[in-house]
Parts: sequence; structure tokens; C-alpha cells
Amino acid sequence: MNVYDSERMGEALNMAGYHPVDAPDKADMVILNTCHIREKAAEKVYSELGRLKKLKDINEDMIIGVAGCVAQAEGEEMLSRAPTVDMVFGPQTFQALPDMLEELADNRAEALEQNGHIKKAKGVVRTSFPAEEKFAPLFETPRQPLVRSPAAFVTVQEGCDKFCTFCVVPYTRGAEVSRAALEIEAEVISLAQKGVSEITLLGQNVNAWHDVDAWYDVDADDIGLGQLLRRLAQVDGIERLRYTTSHPRDMDDALIEAHADLPELMPYLHLPVQAGSDKILKSMNRKHTAEDYIKLVDRIRAARPDIALSSDFIVGFPGETEEDFTATLDLVKQVTYAQAYSFKYSPRPGTPASEEAQIDEDVKSERLARLQDVLNAQQVSFNASQAGETLEVLFEKQGKKLGQMVGRSPYLQTVHVDADETVIGKILPVKIEKAHANSLSGNIFGV
Ligand code: 5AD
Ligand code: SF4
Repeated sequence: MNVYDSERMGEALNMAGYHPVDAPDKADMVILNTCHIREKAAEKVYSELGRLKKLKDINEDMIIGVAGCVAQAEGEEMLSRAPTVDMVFGPQTFQALPDMLEELADNRAEALEQNGHIKKAKGVVRTSFPAEEKFAPLFETPRQPLVRSPAAFVTVQEGCDKFCTFCVVPYTRGAEVSRAALEIEAEVISLAQKGVSEITLLGQNVNAWHDVDAWYDVDADDIGLGQLLRRLAQVDGIERLRYTTSHPRDMDDALIEAHADLPELMPYLHLPVQAGSDKILKSMNRKHTAEDYIKLVDRIRAARPDIALSSDFIVGFPGETEEDFTATLDLVKQVTYAQAYSFKYSPRPGTPASEEAQIDEDVKSERLARLQDVLNAQQVSFNASQAGETLEVLFEKQGKKLGQMVGRSPYLQTVHVDADETVIGKILPVKIEKAHANSLSGNIFGV
């Protein structure tokens, strides 16, 4: 989501006369697009700002902006904690960037007049939630991808109403809002015309997406993500569809059927479970049990037997006993994942779980290591199961090594081959020769 938002900021700035450079010391303006999900991510912002301050000491006209969820959560406070910052704006307000720049220019002119110096200029802060406007500029501005890639993100939904007790998203990204189906379709058509063949639909709760205004030719008054995917699969040039991130509660029958019916819908699903103990799931306010999740996985696998599953896990949530943690390990062994993300619980200010008694840091680290051992072994064996197979790979870019091209398998694995740039943008069959822990390598079939 932040990658997508950063691209949109780039486009807004492009129209305001800016163009990208490849290093901060060559820039007139640097914007950090930040994440508040765990403490580590949020703290990184301040160390990064320390580095930028050194550049600003040399070039005092440099504009430093902080965007995203840390900006949203800290607002004005950020200006006093890091005086080097000129603009603080939340994830719903980046469309107003040209406006903010004008305001900053006025503030700098005023400071220059009053103090003979721009250093004391008032910073600009935008952290309100204009929900109804959130998607509007995305539609008004035809997308000009700054980085040309055959795989693009499209935001279809933002925010979250689930209020898991560990999570800041409902506070930083706001309430759940869906983007209109016809706008999404128009954006996908425009991307397809620019050569994009793979679309990943984005939302914090992407499968809660709905549009109450049906398409003229669809006989339904509440269209969900399954229907949207069916529609987008018909767009000329779109060969692959993905979506992320889903909540187990919102995996409805229509969406599961789409996995059975749509060849364009890739056999990969990120479906976070967080934990395997019902007691912990309840205190996380996840609204599902371990058994609900396992039954859901069975239904999804019945629809698409080869689907690769991914998940998020939190260990060391307040109240997690050894027995609760073992239930997480048991669930992982029962489901078997192709890959997964796992984290130590990080108390976030303002969230209910942060007020509970906390688990010892060493216990968290030890449990995380044990969980990751099991998850890594599952990932290695999933990748190994593909050695010798032929997979359709969409080539996206050059690899790090000379003459190496990189693409993605249907299961979202990174695949390396030796080839020239002409393969970029194409979907080609690749015979997998070697499986590694985090990627595959092989040869384009017939070459
Ligand atoms: N501590 C640790 N992990 C968290 N996540 C969200 N909030 C926290 C937190 N406070 C994880 C969840 C979520 C993923 C995006 O980040 O697993 O699914
Ligand atoms: Fe956060 Fe996801 Fe829970 Fe929403 S559903 S509160 S985004 S973890």
C-alpha cells in the first residue's frame, strides 16, 4: 500500500514540476512514506530523519516531508520532535501535496520577511480524514506509472473497521471505504493500455470491498470482490490478478468460487491468521477461531487445490502461554504455508492490547525463532516441490547479475533466468532447475 501511495505522490509531484532523482543528496525534496504498524518501523523514521538533517544543513532550501501512518499518528508533535521536518501528512491527504507545497512556500516567504531566514518557517500539517475525497484524485489523474513494470498495484479499498486489539490501522488509515467499481475498472483498463498485464488489488481489508451500485449488466445490489475480479479478468491485456490483504471473516462464497473459475486469478492467497489459540484469537478480537480458519482453508483448497497460502503471525501477544504458542505451531503444521510473515508482538500506543501485562522480550524472541524454523522449512519444501516443473513466469525486470532477468511464478515466487531484456513484460514457460529458500531459478522453456 505504501509503495502504491508513494507512486501516486510521485505522480502528483510530477505534475507540480518535480521529477525523481536516484539519491537524497540530489533532491530538492525528500518525503519519507512511513509505517506505524510496529515500533521498529516507526522508530526507523527518526534515524532516517537524522541522516536527512545532515543534507539539509548543506542545502537549507531542501524540503523534508513525512507521509503515511507515523505522520498520521504523531501529527504536530512530529514538527517539535524533529524540527528539520517541513511537512507532515497522513495517508489520506497526499493528493493535497501541491497545495501543501504552496502553503510551505508562503510560510517560508513570511519567515524570510520576519526573521531574514527560512529556518523558522511554520511547518505544514495535514492529518484529517476526507474519506469521500480519498479516491477522487486517483481517478481524475490518469496514471502515468513512473516506473514501468508489467505488474501494478491498484487500491480498491482503504481503512479497517475490525479493530484487532493489537493493530493501529483502524486509527491511522481510518474507517473502511471502498472505491467505486467503475473507477477501478477504468484505472485497470488504462494500466492495461500502458502494457500492464498483472494487477494486484490492494486494501487493508481487501476482501471487505463492496460496491452497492451494481454494474448495469449485473443483477446484484451488493457486489463483492469475487464479482469485481470476474469483471477485471475480462479487461483486454489483463492476464493475472491478485489481491491482498484479506481477513478470514470476509472470504465469502463468491470470492472462493472466483478462485475455482478464473484462470487469471493467481493461485496465491495471503490470509493472515495471527495465532492458533482460540483464547488468544478472542483477546485479539479476530472474530474467528482456529477451527473456522482451518475449515475456510479446506474450502479454498477444494476450489483451487494448488493454491499457495501465506499468512501473518504474531507471537508473544499479552497472555500467550506456552500452550497457546504450541497451538500456533500446530495450526501451521496443519495448514502448511508456502511462505509467511511473523512478528513479535509490539505494543502500539492507543491500542487495547498495549495496556495488558506484557510478555518477556526473551520469551517472545525464543518463540519467534521456533515459529520461523517451522515456517522456513515449509517454504523451503514448497519451493523444492517445484524443481523440475514448468511454471509460467511474468518477467518484470533485470536481475542483480548481468544477463539475469527476474519474474514471478503464479505462486508469487521470484524466478531468475538468464535471458535478455526482450523478455520483460512477457509471460513465458520456465523449466525450474533449482529451488532456493527464497527464490527459484531455471531456463525459459525451449531456449
Ligand atoms: N505487533 C506485531 N505485529 C503486528 N501486526 C499488526 N500490528 C502488530 C503489532 N502491534 C502484524 C499483523 C498484521 C501485519 C500487517 O502486521 O500480523 O497482519
Ligand atoms: Fe489491523 Fe488487519 Fe485487524 Fe484491520 S483486520 S485491525 S488491518 S490486523
